[in-house]
Amino acid sequence: MADLSIDFAGIKSPNPFWVASGPPSNTAYQAHRAFEAGWGGVVWKTIGEPIVNVSSRYSGLTLGGMRLAGFNNIELISDRSPETNFREIADVKKRWPKHAVIASLMVDTRERWHEFVTRSADCGADGIELNFGCPHGMCERGMGSAVGQNPDVAETIVGWVMEKATIPVIVKLTPNITNVVYAARAAKKAGAHAISLINTINSITNVNLDTLVPEPFVAGRSSHGGYCGPAVKPIALNMVHACAADPQVGLPISGIGGIGTWRDAAEFVALGSTSLQVCTAIMHHGFRIVEDMTDGLSAYLDSKGMRSLAELRGRAVPQVGNWQQLDLHYKRVARIDYEKCIGCNLCHIACEDGAHQCIDLVDAAPYGLGPGRVPGKPVPKVRENDCVGCNLCSIVCPVDGCITMTPVDTGRPPMTWHDYQAGLAAGTIQPILPHP
Ligand SMILES: Cc1cc2nc3c(=O)[nH]c(=O)nc-3n(C[C@H](O)[C@H](O)[C@H](O)COP(=O)(O)O)c2cc1C
Ligand code: SF4
Ligand code: SF4
Repeated sequence: MADLSIDFAGIKSPNPFWVASGPPSNTAYQAHRAFEAGWGGVVWKTIGEPIVNVSSRYSGLTLGGMRLAGFNNIELISDRSPETNFREIADVKKRWPKHAVIASLMVDTRERWHEFVTRSADCGADGIELNFGCPHGMCERGMGSAVGQNPDVAETIVGWVMEKATIPVIVKLTPNITNVVYAARAAKKAGAHAISLINTINSITNVNLDTLVPEPFVAGRSSHGGYCGPAVKPIALNMVHACAADPQVGLPISGIGGIGTWRDAAEFVALGSTSLQVCTAIMHHGFRIVEDMTDGLSAYLDSKGMRSLAELRGRAVPQVGNWQQLDLHYKRVARIDYEKCIGCNLCHIACEDGAHQCIDLVDAAPYGLGPGRVPGKPVPKVRENDCVGCNLCSIVCPVDGCITMTPVDTGRPPMTWHDYQAGLAAGTIQPILPHP
């Protein structure tokens, strides 16, 4: 069995799965339950000056019957006292010495940061996560994403923290920024040991068309809130990759955002994450999901002959880069498996109206009758010479494996945009003619 244990900037954990800072990491009771269920670490609900929350606090986005495809909240940091939180962290750490317990912090002044950093170490926390990401409520008070959005301010505050830190410091980054890499570099410059991302994305999930007030509804008003859950995973993966690929960042990464299965986890690791944090999936399904996640991740590593997570970590990073590095001579085309095609013709409509008009509807006779196909009804046929390989038909096709995007040999050597420009300048390449 592959080894799932990690050493994240000096913080050891039996597996990479940590409960992210949020409602599931609010109390010692929940931390005990999480560890009993198999989680490797808990990042405590952010501790600071206790705040007052509103009622209600959450809204969800249901997409095509999938509840919590996206999730939004206007909750603030912990509403419990720092004394209670630090005491409970100490209790949890005593009972689970080999598991990771991280104190998430958000305060304002240098003195307060010094005090809270010291208290975190004193209570036995394995590390500190600086919440520079909360996009609602706290940023209006000059904290949370207000810090994470300004690399200079972030660097100053990480600097204050490092003046007193005796345990590893993780900077949690906000996605509500043009380029997350600048904030990550600021964290590195100020001496942080690691980064985690993403926190939630500023959002309004819907408007109730009767009240004309979005959810969450608070006495006739609402507010922008933090978006998370499965829908944010692509944004998180891109930002994790950007940090992992940047030579100036060079910090261990805790990947967060839409993780709910072992596949999500493996993807975040392949793009450079060492630990993985989960919030929404726990709020939806409970702590028990970690069992499938550890079993699945371990089985995947075994199936690939990898003995540890280190062998997977970052393996997908070099394959992603700027558009200019892509091969302009590579071509793939859509090929339909008529044994699987049900004749819904969604691919034809998509290509006809939304792509390049190269899927014809033709007499079905030569193709036999696939599952559910009606005699006499035409079937789609791709004109491969005109197909640009955009993938759209294979994405809309409701039958798995029915349309395969298949590479074809163009007989031309690889050529990037840079090669193309250089060839044009040198007169060794003819201009590629525009499409008619
Ligand atoms: C209701 C709620 C409360 C949250 N509170 C905090 C918090 O106190 N501190 C923090 O750093 N992140 C907080 N988060 C953000 C999560 O830790 C996490 O970064 C985000 O939800 C993305 O992960 P997910 O898609 O697995 O939920 C909260 C998220 C939710 C849904
Ligand atoms: S979308 Fe798929 S199943 Fe439907 S007609 Fe096209 S190939 Fe067949
Ligand atoms: S890949 Fe794009 S262009 Fe080619 S057949 Fe499908 S939709 Fe049309």
